[in-house]
Amino acid sequence: MAAPLAAGPAALASPPPMTPVVTAAPAADDVTRHGNTYYLSDNRSQAAAKVVTYGRPDDLVYVGDWDGDGIDTLAVRRGDTFHFSNSLTGGPADVVVTYGRPQDEILVGDWDGDGTDTLAVRRGSTYHVKNSLRGGTADSVVRYGRGDDVVLIGDWDGDGRDTFAVRRGFHYYVNNTMTSGPATTVVCFGRNNDEVYTGDWNGSGDDSLAVRRSSQYFLSEQLRSGPAERSVRYGRPDDISIVGDWDGDGTDSLGIRRATSGVGNQPGPVEPPTEEGFTEPLAIPPLADSRVDEDGTRVFELTAQEGTMSFHPGEETSTWGFNGDFLGPTLRARQGEQVAVEFTNAIDETTSVHWHGMHLPPEMDGGPHQEVEPGGTWRPTWLIDQPAATLWYHPHPHGLTEKHVYRGLSGMFILDDATSDASGLPQEYGVDDIPLIVQDKDFDEDGELTLVSPLPSGVMGKTIMVNGTVGAVQEVTTERVRLRLLNGSTLRSYNFGFDDNRSFQLVATDGGLLEEPHETNRIQLTPAERAEIVVELEPGEDIMLRSYPQRLGVIADPEGYGTLQTRDILRLQAADELAPSTEIAEQLSDYERLSEADATVTRHFEMENLRLNGQLMDMSRIDEVVTVGTTEIWEITNLDSIPHNFHIHDVQFEVLSIDGAAPPPELAGRKDTIYTEPQREYRLIMRFENYTSAEFPYMYHCHLLRHEDFGLMGQFLVLEPGAEPPTDLPDTGHHHADDGGGGGADEGGGGADDDGGGAVEDDDGGADEAGGHRDH
Ligand code: C2O
Ligand code: CU
Repeated sequence: MAAPLAAGPAALASPPPMTPVVTAAPAADDVTRHGNTYYLSDNRSQAAAKVVTYGRPDDLVYVGDWDGDGIDTLAVRRGDTFHFSNSLTGGPADVVVTYGRPQDEILVGDWDGDGTDTLAVRRGSTYHVKNSLRGGTADSVVRYGRGDDVVLIGDWDGDGRDTFAVRRGFHYYVNNTMTSGPATTVVCFGRNNDEVYTGDWNGSGDDSLAVRRSSQYFLSEQLRSGPAERSVRYGRPDDISIVGDWDGDGTDSLGIRRATSGVGNQPGPVEPPTEEGFTEPLAIPPLADSRVDEDGTRVFELTAQEGTMSFHPGEETSTWGFNGDFLGPTLRARQGEQVAVEFTNAIDETTSVHWHGMHLPPEMDGGPHQEVEPGGTWRPTWLIDQPAATLWYHPHPHGLTEKHVYRGLSGMFILDDATSDASGLPQEYGVDDIPLIVQDKDFDEDGELTLVSPLPSGVMGKTIMVNGTVGAVQEVTTERVRLRLLNGSTLRSYNFGFDDNRSFQLVATDGGLLEEPHETNRIQLTPAERAEIVVELEPGEDIMLRSYPQRLGVIADPEGYGTLQTRDILRLQAADELAPSTEIAEQLSDYERLSEADATVTRHFEMENLRLNGQLMDMSRIDEVVTVGTTEIWEITNLDSIPHNFHIHDVQFEVLSIDGAAPPPELAGRKDTIYTEPQREYRLIMRFENYTSAEFPYMYHCHLLRHEDFGLMGQFLVLEPGAEPPTDLPDTGHHHADDGGGGGADEGGGGADDDGGGAVEDDDGGADEAGGHRDH
């Protein structure tokens, strides 16, 4: 009996409380070596009974009984080619078939009861099922479940045929025949954060459910709600689980796939969909014009407008941009300058412009309380009162940020100061100081942007672009080049490095320059995070900036979230002669670090079930009240088994610790956004120096934009000491639908289902509108 390798994204219902499991961090390099070694258990021991090596490290893995001999073996997928092995010995594949489209989700089962597993593909809630192992078209097409369900496969009634079941929350809807229509059984099992597996755990011929929490597995032997019959501990928390009948005894057992060690930092094979030749010159966003008013204010003009882009030759795509078709100009200002932005909304939807990473008064922040109607204008003004940094701007309208950013509304905001002038870093914009806004997109058949995705968290786009250029090349004319990397994607994380694994200097993170350069060969950025790196090239060199496999922690569906992918991003081509670059200062910046002893307030934030401390965002509710002039510690934990990150408006924070340990060098500088691996505690320290308002709050939220829009966001006011907080903000009419149940642990599907889980039900809706309003 086969199970998909990963159980899919966690569902969204209200879970019972769960004791955090502390997982040990692997060595920093481990994530680049996700291996092809498999430890297979035979269900008797806690240790592996067999160890095999198969496929390439970044193949996607499937398990099934491909030749009907009663023993499950491994198959690997590269693009839409599947390499099947019929026996459990490493070695080459016995059969190779092509099936489905590259973006299909693949499922494995014995659909016709002939004892042989074959492939099915899922597109939304449509399943295309094949009965034999050869390329070609599907034998049957069934519709089942909703687009955002997590799919499970098993022989639920022991008739020898696999069918579909779907998970919503921790309710399982099981169908016993291969027909569209309602479920035959509904059971409740496990907790919401569990990863789910199916298998025939006792050899009865009936598949049932197992759930995984860290390296503990709770196995049920029949399809009923209630506690597990058995629990086993197997593997390490970072292993990827696989389930199969490895010895043909009719009983499924656990196997794990583990990163190998000692192989070194080999660049893996590149994920297929890179049809691009990397010959398109990289677009550089222009520096925004500005004028200086009599009172010394530097004034920029920004207009959000509709446009058209040709991302692929011969294809027209409707887009949005600031002062242009797509993305926006780079704004640039110095510490100590007063700036103003004259913003006009010329698109036909209400939007806003938020200055991400900027320390400024809350009414100038451009969040959901500063929305601008179509045709409307807004003129925020503030003093640049923070060190040099790479910041950015993007819309932040209530519930619609994903769509607005995805359609193209984003730009960089670079701050300069005397320290950065003296840093020795390359600083000629567009020449040796290059802005890189990295985004991924999906297109429908008409070439329009689409937000339709099998993942409830949003789109993992097949096309990766930099500054709107697909397959970009940048000519390098100096010995060193400074790359300002911004992850401008809605969901995808990148683990940047070069194809020859050369090291580079990490010189700045979200909030500005590090104290000293940090030499490394990888930098991971989750959505909204920035990094400045300096890389050195020899004359004539031609290198590729890539995203490598990465560590996202113990998440369900690591492959869905791109953990193992390698993708090319940007080619750098050095001229035959390179102009000399200045030396980088040994000390880049010198700022006073915040001290834990000065912190007077500690707040706790748990992200669970796509909620923050149990609640969805409410525009009229104040979640936290901060007193100006205080230093605070915020402790953040992600209790979901999907990725989240955490962004705080107004301040740059420092990371005190992660699970009690000091942060690694790349997280040791000032940050405004941090990735939060499931089940780990991030302690952040920050100081609320100035700017108070009893009327306008700042936001904090997950910057995976579909999560943010769904309501994984809260708001805080900064008040004068002794000021009474208002109980409520004026009701703006914006509310997120919720079941109101909050902690109703066992309500299963509850509110999240009613909200649609922030996901898309229509498998081929095509339209780019899929990211639309989900809160009413
Ligand atoms: Cu980049 Cu609340 O935003
Ligand atoms: Cu999130």
